[in-house]
Order: sequence, then structure tokens, then C-alpha cells
Amino acid sequence: MDWDELEADIRACGACRLCEKRRQAVPGVGDRGAEWMFVGEGPGSEEDQRGEPFVGAAGKLLDAMLAAIGLKRGENVYIANAVKCRPPHNRTPQADEIATCHPYLARQIELVRPRVLVALGRPAALALLDAEISIGASRGRVFRRGDTPVVVTYHPAYLLRNQADKAKAWEDLCFARGLVQELAGQP
Ligand code: URA
Repeated sequence: MDWDELEADIRACGACRLCEKRRQAVPGVGDRGAEWMFVGEGPGSEEDQRGEPFVGAAGKLLDAMLAAIGLKRGENVYIANAVKCRPPHNRTPQADEIATCHPYLARQIELVRPRVLVALGRPAALALLDAEISIGASRGRVFRRGDTPVVVTYHPAYLLRNQADKAKAWEDLCFARGLVQELAGQP
């Protein structure tokens, strides 16, 4: 399935209950040949309205986090979510919803072929690793999804409520940047 077919399938998807309340599905955004792929939880209200991931308050923080390590939305970065449709009242997506949506995320990863995957929060880690992990206990570790390294960090919405942990997210992104540089054969 190429990008056009994939995005058309996502937009027309009726595979789980999340399609009932969405305004539109939100496939993903960014550089389709990126070295970096960030995965969030699911669209919120503004994303559901605009059709783009991370455009609300959490998205502004994500953009600032990207800028802090020299990255920019759309340039060498692809951003997607574990589920493509907004969970009602912004609740956490359920495991069965994440599993039903997983083939879309899997295909996005196959098409982008990033050097590193960054899971933003537990639901993203569940989607990428098929495992329930604690972010706090898993930071600084390299997980694997096939050949692709996966780094986990806090979700930006969590960081908006827990500003003291922002420094940890910065450390996690620096850790991921080290992996990308290593894989690119840079010092
Ligand atoms: N939170 C997410 O996990 N994803 C979005 O797209 C927006 C907010």
C-alpha cells in the first residue's frame, strides 16, 4: 500500500468505535523520508478539527522539544499517533483500539523507515512495542521494533502538567539523538 492508498484507508476507516465520534481521521504529518519518527497517543479536539497531529497545546510543546534538539516539524521528522481517530473526551485509547489501528502505524513505519522511533507516553509504547511499560522505569533504554531502535519518553501533555519532568524529556531526546548520530556513522 502506498501513501495515498494508506491515507485514504485511514480516512475511510470504520474498524473500531472511535470512528463514530470523530470529525475526521488524522493520519500523520511530516517528512516521509525522515530519520526521526515520533508517535503520540491519539488526536485531541484541535487535531480532530484540523486533521493534523499535535497542533494543540501539547503540539506546541512538542515543537519546542524538537527545536531544542535542532529538529523541526516537517524536516527530517514524521509525526503520527497510535490511534488515528480522536477518543471521545480525549480519554486514553484502549488496548483494543490501539491494536485495531496498529496496521496503519506499522505501514507508516515501513514507508518512512526511520532511524529511530520515539514513543511519547505509554499508549505509544504499547503500540510500538506491544508491551505495557512504565515510562519512568524505561527511560534511557533502547527497545527494538524489528531492526529499528525505540526510545520512550513522556508525553508532552503530561509534561505540561508536570513541568519538573521536562528536563528528563530533554535528556531522552538527547539520548535518541546520540543513537541517530551513531547509526549515521557520526561521532
Ligand atoms: N496528543 C497526542 O498524543 N497526539 C496528538 O496528535 C495530539 C495530542
